[in-house]
Amino acid sequence: MIRRLHINGPLSDSNRGDLAMTYTKVSLTEDLPQGKMRGFEADGKQILLVNLDGKYYAIGDICTHMTCKLSEGSIKGDTVICPCHFSVFDVRTGKVLSGPASRPEPTFKVKVEKQQISVDL
Ligand code: FES
Repeated sequence: MIRRLHINGPLSDSNRGDLAMTYTKVSLTEDLPQGKMRGFEADGKQILLVNLDGKYYAIGDICTHMTCKLSEGSIKGDTVICPCHFSVFDVRTGKVLSGPASRPEPTFKVKVEKQQISVDL
C-alpha cells in the first residue's frame, strides 16, 4: 500500500532539510534483500528501487532508450542492465555507463526509518 507522507508542524533540525519534499512509503526493508530490485508506480511515476549492500537507491524504471522496464532487467554490481538492448545505468547516479541509451535516468532521494523505505517523488 502506498501512502503519502507529509511533513507538518514546526520544523525540527531533523526535518528542516526535508522542507518541500514529499516522501512516499514504498516498501519495508525486509521485502527488498541486498542485491535485489523492485519496480513500482507512485504519483504516476515508474520507479526502480534497489538495495545495494544495505543502501537503497531509487531511479526511473523506464529505460531512456526505448521505454523498457529496467526492473525486468538485471543487477550487476552497482548497475542495472536493461533487458531490451542492454544499456547499463549506474543505480547510484542514474548515469548511462553503456548505450544505446544516451540520457540518464532521474534519481530520487530515499530515506529509511524504522524499516520503512520512503522515496521523495
Ligand atoms: S530500451 Fe533499454 S536499451 Fe533499449
